[in-house]
Amino acid sequence: MITDLPVADAPNNQSVSGGPVQSAITYEKIPTHIYVDAKAASRAVAHEIADLIRQRQGEGKPCILGLATGSSPKTVYAELVRLHREEGLSFRNVVSFNLDEYYPMEPDSLQSYWRFMREQLFDHVDIPAANYHVPDGTIRYDRVAEFVKHYEDRIAEAGGLDFQLLGIGGNGHIGFNEPGSLINSHTRLMMLDHSTRAAASVDFGGLPRTPRKAITMGVASILAAKRVVLLAWGERKAPVLKGAVEGTVTETNPASYLQTHPNVLFVIDEAAASELTRMKTPWLVDTVVWDNKMIKKAVTFLSLSLNKPILKLTDRDYNDNGMSDLLAQYGQAYDINIDVFNQLQHTITGWPGGKPNADDTNRPERALPAKKRCLIFSPHPDDDIISMGGTFQRLHDQGHEVHVGYQTSGNIAVADDEALRFADYVVDFNRQFGIKSPEATRIFQDAAAYLRAKKDNEMDTDEVRRVKGLIRMGEAKSTCRFVGVSVDNAHFMNMPFYETGKVEKSPLSEADVKVVMDLIEKIKPHQIYAAGDLADPHGTHKVCLDAIMEAVHRLKQSDATPEYFMKDCWVWLYRGAWAEWDVSEIQMAVPMSPDQLMKKRLGIFKHQSQKDGVVYQGTDSREFWQRAEERNRATAGIYNRLGLAEYEAMEAFVRWKF
Ligand code: F6R
Repeated sequence: MITDLPVADAPNNQSVSGGPVQSAITYEKIPTHIYVDAKAASRAVAHEIADLIRQRQGEGKPCILGLATGSSPKTVYAELVRLHREEGLSFRNVVSFNLDEYYPMEPDSLQSYWRFMREQLFDHVDIPAANYHVPDGTIRYDRVAEFVKHYEDRIAEAGGLDFQLLGIGGNGHIGFNEPGSLINSHTRLMMLDHSTRAAASVDFGGLPRTPRKAITMGVASILAAKRVVLLAWGERKAPVLKGAVEGTVTETNPASYLQTHPNVLFVIDEAAASELTRMKTPWLVDTVVWDNKMIKKAVTFLSLSLNKPILKLTDRDYNDNGMSDLLAQYGQAYDINIDVFNQLQHTITGWPGGKPNADDTNRPERALPAKKRCLIFSPHPDDDIISMGGTFQRLHDQGHEVHVGYQTSGNIAVADDEALRFADYVVDFNRQFGIKSPEATRIFQDAAAYLRAKKDNEMDTDEVRRVKGLIRMGEAKSTCRFVGVSVDNAHFMNMPFYETGKVEKSPLSEADVKVVMDLIEKIKPHQIYAAGDLADPHGTHKVCLDAIMEAVHRLKQSDATPEYFMKDCWVWLYRGAWAEWDVSEIQMAVPMSPDQLMKKRLGIFKHQSQKDGVVYQGTDSREFWQRAEERNRATAGIYNRLGLAEYEAMEAFVRWKF
């Protein structure tokens, strides 16, 4: 069994977010352990697997594992490799069967699951090569039926799966059992769902290159395992997890079939758990501590769910919706309403850098110094304008010294034909103007020649990556000029962890932290803005944030003298990715007028390589400017529904305190 205590089983019964985690009432039909983060959760799962392997070794028996690929199990495999290297865990008695493989797929392709398993686990432990099995993506179409039968027979001959590890798709798939799969389905060739292909397209360099089919173990094959553990990290998985754990068993969410398994466990992080009733509305499940954070969360939830402005909520509304103990504490709804309303009101400001000569007691930012140095960190070259373009513009217009630190080059997100166009341009430009720079011409000619002949899924050369990086650099500069900020204030940091040429990035290194520290020390900012995508376990944004947090932490500690700039440095987090902060968490909301929103759109348009069919579209088919506008309008809409002023759009921030 899992040994490390998950948050959900912590002795004080409190989650880190303050809610009860051992529910008096449970809505959950699947045992679910919630951990603070994927790392702690993965460690616990890896230890369960290790214990099982050792137990079987003790019995002189093989340990039959069903394994998954994707981003979720990577941290589990990393811990298993560590256990092998540092604690002598042997895999000699392990026999494994992977869930699935794209079809068709060559085993040595960058995206093959065969290759994935070797790179993540098999090549680093002592499992005999004959002991691991991954469905064969090269099998002839007319032999697939025979192959899948044989695959199931091999599992049965081995004695059945002792343990099945699973991830979950954003649409609820387990293995590649897409919505519509039957509970009695067996290993077979499946057509992939559009959303699955869209998510995978990131690895394949676009949707057209992404396979349409996969061989997958069936739902029945998975349910036959003696033990099943499903992993899920990040808020993207939250809605589908809620359905699987709390909803009815339905083919539209295949993970819900796991409700029928007698020995299943979901191991998830807090972000993935965020839609579960015990996390979202803990007061409906058990007694809670009504601190200010919980009160704001509950009152805003009540107001939005009843579709009633906060100031119109009545005692009856509180009583009817599981909040009578809060009422008992406060006396009457009126007092709670006013208190929460005022707090929300104070988050709204048109002065993100502080309002000079104004009382700042109830303002999100300090009035002084009136002119601040602001450093916006942008993980990719367009996150500054997409996620906080309105605030960026205001900071500049209100006279602050604004700098942008572009953390990564973003070079893998430029389409080949776009790079080819620019390479051609440079060659022709040099020719037309008689510029003789043989080296520059050679670089661009080589890049152009390479791109013309490039095969699907081939990795770019260093030179092509530099061409692509330059394109994105030019776009970022163009945005700065558009906002009015000098391009001298655009700092291209090219953090090394990003420069792998692949979707898979290197881990954060000392060199990355140093680049961030150097820039902060150079600018000495009063305000830092960073993409606060805390729950994006494997993404670039999270690595960029980790680097900033580490850099700020070290700098804050490095000098305690009163005049040291870091003591006056505040860090504001914006949400870089798809989601927005929960309204109860927002500490600064910067409104935009229709004109300001339109200006922001034009600023986003400067990133032409990220428009009209981007390389990394993901599952959201909207363009970046549409996502940004809809999100900013939605935030303003929520404030308005709560009974606050009606704005066209709003950008939202949370202050990160140390
Ligand atoms: C992979 C598999 C899939 C993934 C799922 C989640 O072998 O069968 O079901 O587990 O698509 O993928 P990630 O973990 O990348 O979010």
